[in-house]
Amino acid sequence: MKEKILCHLSKNHPWRDRIHWLEETDSTNTQAKILALAGAPHGTVVIAGHQTVGRGRMGRSFHSPEGMGVYLSLLLRPNCEADRLMHLTCATAVAACDAVEKVTGLRPGIKWTNDLVVGKRKLGGILTELTIVQDQLCVIIGIGINCLQQLGDLNPEIRDFACSLAMATDHPIVREAVSAALIASLYEMDQRLLTDKAEIMATYRRGCITVDQDVRLLRADTVRYGHAEDIDENGALLVRFSDGHTEAVNSGEISVRGMYGYA
Ligand code: BTN
Repeated sequence: MKEKILCHLSKNHPWRDRIHWLEETDSTNTQAKILALAGAPHGTVVIAGHQTVGRGRMGRSFHSPEGMGVYLSLLLRPNCEADRLMHLTCATAVAACDAVEKVTGLRPGIKWTNDLVVGKRKLGGILTELTIVQDQLCVIIGIGINCLQQLGDLNPEIRDFACSLAMATDHPIVREAVSAALIASLYEMDQRLLTDKAEIMATYRRGCITVDQDVRLLRADTVRYGHAEDIDENGALLVRFSDGHTEAVNSGEISVRGMYGYA
């Protein structure tokens, strides 16, 4: 698998020698963190064929069946404070959409903040984790994309609202090509993350299906309803609530009316 990924990556790609392939692991994010603790460099990539404890946001699991998806984590050691990286998950979503489009011709939508979607179904997700190792900020970006599943392969819990590239496009799906395109796209993202923030966020806004929709915000035990009006420069969702005031939402769970979880 690693050789095939390398075949799809340019010969002189700067991260070529930093790719770790694992047939099976708990979570590539966890393994990337272990590598960070051991001193692995900026641009270290961990890819697995199968995750036994694939993790998603808000403590959820990410189903990662063998041979079906791309499960990839990237370690970055940014040379800046964490507060300059508020848009990182958005930038990653743009990079992932670029990669999928390059390989399949299909550009997924983005459900704020970190879900890749096709129509009303979830194609994949992003889990960004920040940690300090020996006084240095380390960022671990995890991306999971369903690739080869047909409807019957999807776990019953997610079958009604998930999809895969094979389900969404007629294009033959080669997971190694998707992995290599993701690495190339994440490299480009890293190059322009701090310099092209406005342009990255403009692309994110164009691709985000949550804007201009009625939304439901679940935070702790409270449920609130509003209308998503825009996304600010740091990736916060600007929601106008029924009492008329607008709030920048950073955390909590947003559901989009008509999509999974909010009929
Ligand atoms: C989500 O849907 O909430 C985010 C899913 C992120 C899944 C990816 S797969 C590679 C990396 N390793 C993990 O354990 N999670 C991320």
